[in-house]
Amino acid sequence: EAEPQNAVTVDVDLGEVELNNEGTLQVCSDVPYPPFEYFDEEGTVVGFDIDIAQTIADAMEAELEVVQTGFEGIQSGVALDAGTCDLAISGMTITEERAGNMLFSEPYLDDNLGLMAATDADVSSLDDLEGLTVGVQTETTGATYAEENGYEVREYTDSGLLIQGLESGQVEAAIGNISILGYQAGESDTAEFIEEIDTGEQLGIAAASENDQLIDAVNEVLTELEASGGMQEIEDRWFRD
Ligand code: ARG
Repeated sequence: EAEPQNAVTVDVDLGEVELNNEGTLQVCSDVPYPPFEYFDEEGTVVGFDIDIAQTIADAMEAELEVVQTGFEGIQSGVALDAGTCDLAISGMTITEERAGNMLFSEPYLDDNLGLMAATDADVSSLDDLEGLTVGVQTETTGATYAEENGYEVREYTDSGLLIQGLESGQVEAAIGNISILGYQAGESDTAEFIEEIDTGEQLGIAAASENDQLIDAVNEVLTELEASGGMQEIEDRWFRD
């Protein structure tokens, strides 16, 4: 995979970091989830998470390989435990339950949940969802929230299908993180962003449970990315406002 010309680099000395395959940093990511990870016109995986992963790989003097992995395998820790990848970076919320099955980095983004709805569905808040079907991605925090609040739910295995379901009228609304829904709403003629749900979610990068060495290295890179303004540069690239 060709390295982006404009990769943001950080000045850190990580020493020798052990990877599953020497010289290659494999990261599991559930694509598509724009603007975090999605295929561009050339079929290359790009996005906010991918740029961060590239910075980490560069700091480790390794090649980056993105391993497309279903979100269930990522959020359960199974993909990491199986050695499918060294790290998971997938717009994944840090939760207590997940933290029992993997090792999280420091948070790299705040990302509350939000509600999106078809423009013709007459939804102006969460209170209007009675009698409507809400689309969510399976095993995500949005799915948990929708189920806990008793909404009529339709689950999609990936977020691309969820957005298609909303656009095609299979569901009238969707609950997911604001950063993807806000982005999708900007791209859509038939659906709009309705409201933010203050869940206080924070996203983290994960490694397998015992891999302290790797997650320490990730944290060093994240700290330096913040301090150098590199994180802001990457954010500005993918979250246009
Ligand atoms: N932040 C949410 C969660 O962790 C959704 C993440 C979905 N990510 C993806 N690449 N599909 O549950």
